[in-house]
Amino acid sequence: MTIRDNTRELRSFGRRKGRKATPRQAALLRDVLPRIAIDLAAPFALSTSSVPSAVPCDSPAGSRPEGTNEAWLEIGFGGGEHLVWQAKQNPVVTLIGCEPFEDGVVKVLDAVERDHLANVRVHMGDARDVLRWLPDASIARAFILFPDPWPKRKHQKRRLVNASTLALLARILKPGAELRFGTDIGDYARSALEAFHAEKRFCWQAERPADWRIRPADWPETRYEAKAEREGRVRYYFRFRRL
Ligand SMILES: C[S@@+](CC[C@H](N)C(=O)[O-])C[C@H]1O[C@@H](n2cnc3c(N)ncnc32)[C@H](O)[C@@H]1O
Repeated sequence: MTIRDNTRELRSFGRRKGRKATPRQAALLRDVLPRIAIDLAAPFALSTSSVPSAVPCDSPAGSRPEGTNEAWLEIGFGGGEHLVWQAKQNPVVTLIGCEPFEDGVVKVLDAVERDHLANVRVHMGDARDVLRWLPDASIARAFILFPDPWPKRKHQKRRLVNASTLALLARILKPGAELRFGTDIGDYARSALEAFHAEKRFCWQAERPADWRIRPADWPETRYEAKAEREGRVRYYFRFRRL
């Protein structure tokens, strides 16, 4: 008799693999991924290679670049444009990216190798496994940008932004941390706002419509967002503060 595990979450993503990997892509998966992959069997530790060695450890508070010793998390980075941009702009921050789609992971591995990025860590799989692994209050900023929309009513329960994911995120985010969420689906924006409103550990950072209609300068456009723009869909840019 099979016992069904009702605690398993519904799958929130589509395919894991696209075309057969080219020899170069296979080499990146074989050689680079193990170097930067998150080890869920080991305790969480910040990458020391992202901390500039020129700054002495005993230097007075305030003399280190902003973000030193911080970890930021991106869930569902797709082609990795945003993750790689943030890693380059914030070399002292450790960027943890989660994405089950192999082709997207390969794009990030390629950038890590080409641009010698020392501050990127990757989990090729479901971000919720990483959320359960991370210690309390360990992440200073998180991004969920244009998650799979699951527009059909019967599939909406697969949407990643829901009460249980927000509870996981509330535990691992530091007080004051920012969580950014973007979508181009009005109904997803509405259901996500309801979920954030119900999770009292988050506060929506919007005072006027421009705060969610206009993408902040330090939030680069993603591939999926560019497609939404080409196809004329409204984009919503939400920022929440962990209280
Ligand atoms: C519509 S795409 C958007 C990708 C990218 N953020 C962008 O804006 O271009 C959503 C991505 O989220 C990923 N995803 C969905 N569920 C996920 C999960 N539970 N953990 C990690 N990634 C997930 C999918 O594989 C997919 O690549």
